[in-house]
Amino acid sequence: MFISFEGIEGSGKSTLLENLKKYYLKKELEVLFTKEPGGTELGKDIRGILLNPTSLISSEAELLLLMADRIEHVTTIINPNLKKNKIIFCDRYIDSTIAYQGKGRNLSEDKIKELIDILNLPIPDLTILLDLPVEDGLLRANKRNELDRFEKEDINFHKSIRKSYLDLQKKDPKRIFLFDSSISENKLFKNVLNLIEKKINESH
Ligand code: TYD
Repeated sequence: MFISFEGIEGSGKSTLLENLKKYYLKKELEVLFTKEPGGTELGKDIRGILLNPTSLISSEAELLLLMADRIEHVTTIINPNLKKNKIIFCDRYIDSTIAYQGKGRNLSEDKIKELIDILNLPIPDLTILLDLPVEDGLLRANKRNELDRFEKEDINFHKSIRKSYLDLQKKDPKRIFLFDSSISENKLFKNVLNLIEKKINESH
């Protein structure tokens, strides 16, 4: 089973994934926690370039760097582990590209979808979308560390990404499940865990 996690900056994905990791690593289930960009050796270098606030990258090159990161990750980590029937928890995946590069950078969503097709990328069985107001998310991200190249973008960039995520969820509610992440960390963890457990049971 392939589960991806999505959301705007400061939406609480990292904390939620830490909590899920603590929970599932104690269980007998075969799980794998990974992320994009930067889930492979090559990906770590690509991530460094993409997140560095001083990098000058055109939107098109940004898209292809993310896709290079993704195909390396899919080929060497995701597909082999799906074959072994592991449960994969992936921090960001294709919906990030549609939201950030499609809406955020104004690249054609159809072209991004074509690339996804050409590369034969697996579609997640389940996507957890964490949502909260952009202002609140950016406040959280600001407190955490120095802002990266994406976090430094203006508020309208982040608002368009939030809207894109919400549209994607409306179009594909069987795959993408929306969670309000302005509630407490523990409540959010329990809500998401309930859904994941249900999906795991259904898949057996
Ligand atoms: P990261 O620090 O992992 O962000 P977060 O902690 O918010 O998940 O940085 C990843 C950044 O890369 C994030 O700002 C979103 C961006 N990104 C894209 O723009 N497109 C993509 O397809 C992916 C996977 C990430």
